[in-house]
Amino acid sequence: MDPIILGIESSCDDTSAAVIKGETILSNVIAGQKVHEEYGGVVPELASRAHQQNIIPVVHKAMKDAGVVPSDISAIAFTRGPGLMGSLMVGTSFAKGFALARKIPLIEVNHLQAHVLAHFIQEPGSKHEVPKFPFLCLLVSGGNSQIVLVRDVLKMEIIGQTIDDAAGEAFDKCAKVMGLPYPGGPLIDKLAKEGNPTAFEFAKPRIANFDYSFSGLKTSFLYFLRDHIKNDPDFVAHHREDLCASLQKTIVDILMDKLVAAAKKTGIKEIALAGGVSANSALRQAFLDGQEKYKWNIYIPKFSYTTDNAAMIAITGFFKYQRKEFVGQDVAPFARMVL
Ligand code: KG4
Repeated sequence: MDPIILGIESSCDDTSAAVIKGETILSNVIAGQKVHEEYGGVVPELASRAHQQNIIPVVHKAMKDAGVVPSDISAIAFTRGPGLMGSLMVGTSFAKGFALARKIPLIEVNHLQAHVLAHFIQEPGSKHEVPKFPFLCLLVSGGNSQIVLVRDVLKMEIIGQTIDDAAGEAFDKCAKVMGLPYPGGPLIDKLAKEGNPTAFEFAKPRIANFDYSFSGLKTSFLYFLRDHIKNDPDFVAHHREDLCASLQKTIVDILMDKLVAAAKKTGIKEIALAGGVSANSALRQAFLDGQEKYKWNIYIPKFSYTTDNAAMIAITGFFKYQRKEFVGQDVAPFARMVL
Protein backbone atom coordinates (compact mmCIF):
# COMPACT_ATOMS: atom_id res chain seq x y z
CA MET A 1 0.00 0.00 0.00
CA ASP A 2 1.36 3.39 -0.98
CA PRO A 3 1.88 5.75 1.98
CA ILE A 4 -0.13 8.97 2.14
CA ILE A 5 2.08 11.97 2.92
CA LEU A 6 0.92 15.42 3.98
CA GLY A 7 3.35 18.09 2.73
CA ILE A 8 3.66 21.57 4.25
CA GLU A 9 5.42 24.54 2.63
CA SER A 10 5.86 27.92 4.35
CA SER A 11 9.36 29.11 3.42
CA CYS A 12 8.48 32.52 2.00
CA ASP A 13 5.12 34.12 1.22
CA ASP A 14 2.99 31.15 0.11
CA THR A 15 1.27 28.90 2.64
CA SER A 16 0.73 25.53 1.02
CA ALA A 17 -0.40 22.02 1.95
CA ALA A 18 -0.59 18.97 -0.30
CA VAL A 19 -1.53 15.32 -0.01
CA ILE A 20 0.29 12.69 -2.06
CA LYS A 21 -0.33 8.94 -2.27
CA GLY A 22 2.87 7.30 -3.41
CA GLU A 23 3.93 9.54 -6.32
CA THR A 24 0.36 10.55 -7.21
CA ILE A 25 -0.78 13.96 -6.05
CA LEU A 26 -4.25 14.09 -4.51
CA SER A 27 -4.38 17.79 -3.64
CA ASN A 28 -2.19 20.90 -3.66
CA VAL A 29 -3.58 24.01 -1.99
CA ILE A 30 -1.67 27.31 -2.11
CA ALA A 31 -2.63 30.53 -0.30
CA GLY A 32 -0.66 33.52 -1.56
CA GLN A 33 -0.19 36.70 0.48
CA LYS A 34 -1.36 39.92 -1.15
CA VAL A 35 -0.28 41.93 1.89
CA HIS A 36 3.29 42.38 0.48
CA GLU A 37 2.29 44.03 -2.81
CA GLU A 38 2.23 47.58 -1.49
CA TYR A 39 5.74 47.19 -0.04
CA GLY A 40 7.43 46.08 -3.30
CA GLY A 41 8.78 42.88 -1.73
CA VAL A 42 8.12 40.29 0.97
CA VAL A 43 7.99 41.72 4.51
CA PRO A 44 9.14 38.81 6.76
CA GLU A 45 7.07 39.70 9.84
CA LEU A 46 3.90 40.08 7.76
CA ALA A 47 4.65 36.79 6.01
CA SER A 48 4.87 34.80 9.25
CA ARG A 49 1.67 36.38 10.58
CA ALA A 50 -0.17 35.47 7.37
CA HIS A 51 1.16 31.89 7.56
CA GLN A 52 -0.25 31.65 11.09
CA GLN A 53 -3.67 32.67 9.78
CA ASN A 54 -3.53 30.46 6.68
CA ILE A 55 -1.98 27.21 7.84
CA ILE A 56 -5.03 25.52 9.44
CA PRO A 57 -7.55 26.39 6.67
CA VAL A 58 -5.02 25.42 3.97
CA VAL A 59 -4.30 22.01 5.55
CA HIS A 60 -8.00 21.47 6.11
CA LYS A 61 -8.76 22.16 2.44
CA ALA A 62 -5.86 19.99 1.21
CA MET A 63 -7.21 17.01 3.17
CA LYS A 64 -10.78 17.69 2.06
CA ASP A 65 -9.76 17.99 -1.62
CA ALA A 66 -7.79 14.74 -1.32
CA GLY A 67 -10.69 12.97 0.39
CA VAL A 68 -8.60 11.93 3.39
CA VAL A 69 -8.90 12.37 7.15
CA PRO A 70 -5.99 12.83 9.62
CA SER A 71 -5.95 9.11 10.49
CA ASP A 72 -5.19 8.28 6.79
CA ILE A 73 -1.89 10.23 6.85
CA SER A 74 1.21 8.01 7.08
CA ALA A 75 3.75 10.82 7.65
CA ILE A 76 4.08 14.61 7.51
CA ALA A 77 6.82 16.37 5.53
CA PHE A 78 7.67 20.05 5.95
CA THR A 79 10.09 22.61 4.51
CA ARG A 80 12.96 22.98 6.97
CA GLY A 81 14.81 25.58 4.88
CA PRO A 82 16.12 27.64 3.24
CA GLY A 83 13.70 30.50 3.71
CA LEU A 84 12.54 33.22 6.08
CA MET A 85 12.95 32.06 9.68
CA GLY A 86 9.58 33.37 10.93
CA SER A 87 7.79 31.76 7.98
CA LEU A 88 9.60 28.42 8.32
CA MET A 89 8.78 28.27 12.02
CA VAL A 90 5.04 28.25 11.32
CA GLY A 91 5.21 25.21 9.00
CA THR A 92 7.76 23.44 11.19
CA SER A 93 5.72 23.91 14.37
CA PHE A 94 2.55 22.76 12.66
CA ALA A 95 4.26 19.64 11.29
CA LYS A 96 5.78 18.78 14.67
CA GLY A 97 2.44 19.16 16.41
CA PHE A 98 0.64 17.07 13.79
CA ALA A 99 3.27 14.30 13.94
CA LEU A 100 3.14 14.25 17.73
CA ALA A 101 -0.66 14.19 17.88
CA ARG A 102 -1.01 11.49 15.21
CA LYS A 103 2.10 9.54 16.33
CA ILE A 104 3.41 9.47 12.75
CA PRO A 105 6.92 10.07 11.31
CA LEU A 106 8.15 13.62 10.75
CA ILE A 107 10.17 14.30 7.58
CA GLU A 108 12.29 17.41 6.99
CA VAL A 109 12.61 18.64 3.41
CA ASN A 110 15.14 20.93 1.77
CA HIS A 111 13.13 23.41 -0.30
CA LEU A 112 15.70 23.43 -3.14
CA GLN A 113 15.81 19.65 -3.38
CA ALA A 114 12.00 19.72 -3.51
CA HIS A 115 11.99 22.15 -6.46
CA VAL A 116 14.12 19.62 -8.39
CA LEU A 117 11.97 16.64 -7.36
CA ALA A 118 8.78 18.41 -8.51
CA HIS A 119 9.48 16.64 -11.82
CA PHE A 120 8.49 13.33 -10.24
CA ILE A 121 4.97 14.36 -9.19
CA GLN A 122 2.37 12.29 -11.06
CA GLU A 123 -1.23 13.29 -11.66
CA PRO A 124 -4.08 10.83 -10.97
CA GLY A 125 -5.02 8.76 -14.02
CA SER A 126 -1.99 9.61 -16.17
CA LYS A 127 1.73 8.95 -15.97
CA HIS A 128 4.14 11.45 -17.48
CA GLU A 129 7.76 10.83 -18.35
CA VAL A 130 10.29 11.79 -15.67
CA PRO A 131 13.98 12.71 -16.09
CA LYS A 132 16.43 9.81 -16.21
CA PHE A 133 19.47 9.87 -13.93
CA PRO A 134 21.86 11.56 -14.13
CA PHE A 135 20.21 14.78 -15.24
CA LEU A 136 20.98 18.48 -15.04
CA CYS A 137 18.42 20.80 -13.49
CA LEU A 138 18.46 24.56 -13.95
CA LEU A 139 16.89 25.78 -10.72
CA VAL A 140 15.89 29.41 -11.05
CA SER A 141 13.76 31.24 -8.49
CA GLY A 142 13.52 34.50 -6.60
CA GLY A 143 16.25 33.33 -4.23
CA ASN A 144 18.34 30.90 -6.24
CA SER A 145 20.01 30.32 -9.61
CA GLN A 146 21.77 27.00 -9.71
CA ILE A 147 22.77 24.21 -12.04
CA VAL A 148 22.22 20.97 -10.15
CA LEU A 149 23.66 17.62 -11.19
CA VAL A 150 21.07 15.08 -10.04
CA ARG A 151 22.52 11.56 -9.68
CA ASP A 152 19.55 10.06 -7.85
CA VAL A 153 16.39 11.28 -6.10
CA LEU A 154 18.24 12.35 -2.99
CA LYS A 155 21.76 12.61 -4.42
CA MET A 156 22.34 16.07 -5.84
CA GLU A 157 25.36 18.27 -6.38
CA ILE A 158 25.40 21.97 -7.23
CA ILE A 159 27.86 22.44 -10.09
CA GLY A 160 27.14 26.13 -10.65
CA GLN A 161 25.34 28.86 -8.74
CA THR A 162 24.94 32.59 -8.46
CA ILE A 163 27.64 34.43 -6.55
CA ASP A 164 25.26 37.32 -5.79
CA ASP A 165 21.64 37.92 -6.92
CA ALA A 166 19.32 35.25 -8.28
CA ALA A 167 17.74 35.45 -11.76
CA GLY A 168 14.29 36.14 -10.26
CA GLU A 169 15.78 38.94 -8.18
CA ALA A 170 17.27 40.46 -11.35
CA PHE A 171 13.82 40.41 -12.97
CA ASP A 172 12.15 41.86 -9.87
CA LYS A 173 14.74 44.57 -9.14
CA CYS A 174 14.93 45.76 -12.76
CA ALA A 175 11.13 45.81 -12.85
CA LYS A 176 11.15 47.99 -9.75
CA VAL A 177 13.46 50.59 -11.34
CA MET A 178 11.04 50.71 -14.29
CA GLY A 179 8.23 51.45 -11.82
CA LEU A 180 6.54 48.05 -12.21
CA PRO A 181 4.91 46.38 -9.18
CA TYR A 182 6.31 43.37 -7.30
CA PRO A 183 6.90 40.64 -8.37
CA GLY A 184 8.08 42.11 -11.65
CA GLY A 185 9.16 38.87 -13.38
CA PRO A 186 5.73 37.89 -14.75
CA LEU A 187 5.05 41.49 -15.89
CA ILE A 188 8.38 41.76 -17.71
CA ASP A 189 7.53 38.48 -19.44
CA LYS A 190 4.15 39.86 -20.51
CA LEU A 191 5.44 43.24 -21.73
CA ALA A 192 8.42 41.61 -23.48
CA LYS A 193 6.01 39.86 -25.85
CA GLU A 194 5.30 43.26 -27.46
CA GLY A 195 8.96 44.38 -27.55
CA ASN A 196 12.14 43.89 -29.57
CA PRO A 197 14.67 41.72 -27.68
CA THR A 198 17.61 43.22 -29.61
CA ALA A 199 16.60 46.88 -29.16
CA PHE A 200 19.09 47.39 -26.33
CA GLU A 201 22.21 45.55 -25.29
CA PHE A 202 23.23 45.01 -21.68
CA ALA A 203 26.61 43.74 -20.51
CA LYS A 204 26.84 40.06 -19.59
CA PRO A 205 29.02 38.94 -16.68
CA ARG A 206 32.28 37.08 -17.17
CA ILE A 207 32.27 34.54 -14.37
CA ALA A 208 34.37 31.39 -14.20
CA ASN A 209 33.02 27.83 -14.39
CA PHE A 210 29.24 27.34 -14.31
CA ASP A 211 28.58 30.12 -11.80
CA TYR A 212 26.24 33.04 -12.36
CA SER A 213 26.18 36.71 -11.40
CA PHE A 214 23.24 39.07 -11.83
CA SER A 215 24.09 42.05 -9.63
CA GLY A 216 26.18 43.72 -12.39
CA LEU A 217 23.28 43.50 -14.84
CA LYS A 218 20.96 45.16 -12.34
CA THR A 219 23.43 48.02 -11.84
CA SER A 220 24.12 48.48 -15.56
CA PHE A 221 20.36 48.50 -16.23
CA LEU A 222 19.90 51.19 -13.58
CA TYR A 223 22.74 53.37 -15.00
CA PHE A 224 21.45 52.83 -18.55
CA LEU A 225 18.02 54.16 -17.57
CA ARG A 226 19.48 57.04 -15.56
CA ASP A 227 21.59 58.16 -18.57
CA HIS A 228 18.66 58.02 -20.99
CA ILE A 229 16.21 59.68 -18.61
CA LYS A 230 18.50 62.76 -18.64
CA ASN A 231 17.55 63.34 -22.31
CA ASP A 232 14.03 61.94 -22.19
CA PRO A 233 12.29 61.99 -18.79
CA ASP A 234 9.69 59.56 -20.16
CA PHE A 235 12.29 57.17 -21.59
CA VAL A 236 10.92 54.16 -19.67
CA ALA A 237 7.33 54.81 -20.73
CA HIS A 238 8.41 55.29 -24.36
CA HIS A 239 10.47 52.09 -24.48
CA ARG A 240 8.94 49.85 -21.79
CA GLU A 241 8.28 46.82 -24.04
CA ASP A 242 11.70 46.97 -25.73
CA LEU A 243 13.43 47.38 -22.35
CA CYS A 244 11.57 44.33 -20.99
CA ALA A 245 12.29 42.22 -24.08
CA SER A 246 16.00 43.15 -24.14
CA LEU A 247 16.44 42.62 -20.41
CA GLN A 248 14.64 39.27 -20.55
CA LYS A 249 16.79 38.14 -23.48
CA THR A 250 19.96 39.07 -21.55
CA ILE A 251 18.89 37.12 -18.43
CA VAL A 252 17.84 34.07 -20.46
CA ASP A 253 21.09 34.16 -22.50
CA ILE A 254 23.14 34.29 -19.29
CA LEU A 255 21.22 31.32 -17.84
CA MET A 256 21.37 29.24 -21.02
CA ASP A 257 25.06 29.89 -21.87
CA LYS A 258 26.19 28.22 -18.64
CA LEU A 259 23.63 25.44 -18.89
CA VAL A 260 24.74 24.60 -22.44
CA ALA A 261 28.38 24.63 -21.28
CA ALA A 262 27.54 22.34 -18.32
CA ALA A 263 25.63 19.93 -20.58
CA LYS A 264 28.58 19.79 -23.01
CA LYS A 265 31.14 19.26 -20.25
CA THR A 266 29.18 16.49 -18.49
CA GLY A 267 27.82 14.95 -21.70
CA ILE A 268 24.34 14.91 -20.12
CA LYS A 269 21.35 15.39 -22.42
CA GLU A 270 18.58 15.00 -19.83
CA ILE A 271 17.88 18.64 -18.99
CA ALA A 272 15.26 19.86 -16.51
CA LEU A 273 13.98 23.27 -15.45
CA ALA A 274 12.68 24.16 -11.98
CA GLY A 275 11.76 27.12 -9.76
CA GLY A 276 9.48 30.14 -10.17
CA VAL A 277 11.41 31.72 -13.07
CA SER A 278 10.76 28.60 -15.16
CA ALA A 279 7.34 30.17 -15.84
CA ASN A 280 9.19 32.63 -18.10
CA SER A 281 8.14 32.13 -21.70
CA ALA A 282 11.51 33.08 -23.24
CA LEU A 283 13.31 30.62 -20.95
CA ARG A 284 10.84 27.88 -21.88
CA GLN A 285 11.41 28.68 -25.55
CA ALA A 286 15.19 28.51 -25.00
CA PHE A 287 14.70 25.00 -23.57
CA LEU A 288 12.69 24.01 -26.64
CA ASP A 289 15.47 25.43 -28.83
CA GLY A 290 17.99 23.37 -26.83
CA GLN A 291 15.93 20.25 -27.49
CA GLU A 292 16.12 20.96 -31.21
CA LYS A 293 19.72 22.16 -31.39
CA TYR A 294 21.49 19.87 -28.87
CA LYS A 295 19.09 16.90 -29.00
CA TRP A 296 18.30 17.33 -25.29
CA ASN A 297 15.42 15.54 -23.61
CA ILE A 298 13.85 18.46 -21.77
CA TYR A 299 11.58 18.42 -18.72
CA ILE A 300 9.52 21.45 -17.68
CA PRO A 301 7.10 20.91 -14.79
CA LYS A 302 3.51 22.04 -14.71
CA PHE A 303 3.28 25.72 -13.75
CA SER A 304 1.65 25.04 -10.35
CA TYR A 305 4.67 22.90 -9.38
CA THR A 306 7.30 25.49 -10.35
CA THR A 307 6.42 28.25 -7.89
CA ASP A 308 6.45 27.53 -4.17
CA ASN A 309 4.04 24.66 -3.47
CA ALA A 310 3.61 21.79 -1.02
CA ALA A 311 3.20 19.10 -3.72
CA MET A 312 6.98 19.18 -4.22
CA ILE A 313 7.47 18.90 -0.45
CA ALA A 314 5.11 15.91 -0.36
CA ILE A 315 6.88 14.04 -3.21
CA THR A 316 10.25 14.62 -1.51
CA GLY A 317 8.64 13.40 1.71
CA PHE A 318 7.55 10.24 -0.12
CA PHE A 319 11.12 9.50 -1.30
CA LYS A 320 12.42 10.06 2.23
CA TYR A 321 9.64 7.93 3.70
CA GLN A 322 10.70 5.04 1.45
CA ARG A 323 14.23 5.40 2.85
CA LYS A 324 12.98 5.89 6.45
CA GLU A 325 14.70 9.29 6.67
CA PHE A 326 12.78 10.69 9.62
CA VAL A 327 13.62 13.42 12.15
CA GLY A 328 12.79 13.89 15.83
CA GLN A 329 10.87 16.62 17.65
CA ASP A 330 14.13 18.49 18.32
CA VAL A 331 14.39 19.50 14.63
CA ALA A 332 14.66 23.26 14.03
CA PRO A 333 14.28 25.23 10.78
CA PHE A 334 17.30 26.63 8.96
CA ALA A 335 17.12 30.00 7.18
CA ARG A 336 20.16 28.98 5.13
CA MET A 337 20.47 25.44 3.90
CA VAL A 338 22.48 23.97 1.03
CA LEU A 339 21.54 20.99 -1.10
O1 KG4 B 1 10.28 29.91 -6.86
P1 KG4 B 1 9.52 31.15 -6.60
O2 KG4 B 1 8.03 31.07 -6.70
O3 KG4 B 1 9.79 31.69 -5.16
C1 KG4 B 1 10.88 32.30 -4.63
O4 KG4 B 1 12.04 32.00 -4.94
O5 KG4 B 1 10.59 33.17 -3.77
O6 KG4 B 1 10.05 32.26 -7.61
C2 KG4 B 1 9.55 33.56 -7.62
C3 KG4 B 1 10.34 34.33 -8.67
C4 KG4 B 1 10.09 35.84 -8.59
O7 KG4 B 1 11.35 36.47 -8.64
C5 KG4 B 1 9.27 36.11 -9.85
O8 KG4 B 1 9.45 37.41 -10.37
C6 KG4 B 1 9.81 35.07 -10.79
O9 KG4 B 1 9.96 33.91 -9.99
N1 KG4 B 1 8.90 34.79 -11.90
C7 KG4 B 1 9.16 35.10 -13.18
C8 KG4 B 1 8.03 34.70 -13.94
N2 KG4 B 1 7.11 34.17 -13.09
C9 KG4 B 1 7.66 34.22 -11.84
N3 KG4 B 1 10.24 35.66 -13.73
C10 KG4 B 1 10.22 35.83 -15.06
N4 KG4 B 1 9.18 35.49 -15.85
C11 KG4 B 1 8.06 34.93 -15.34
N5 KG4 B 1 7.04 34.59 -16.13
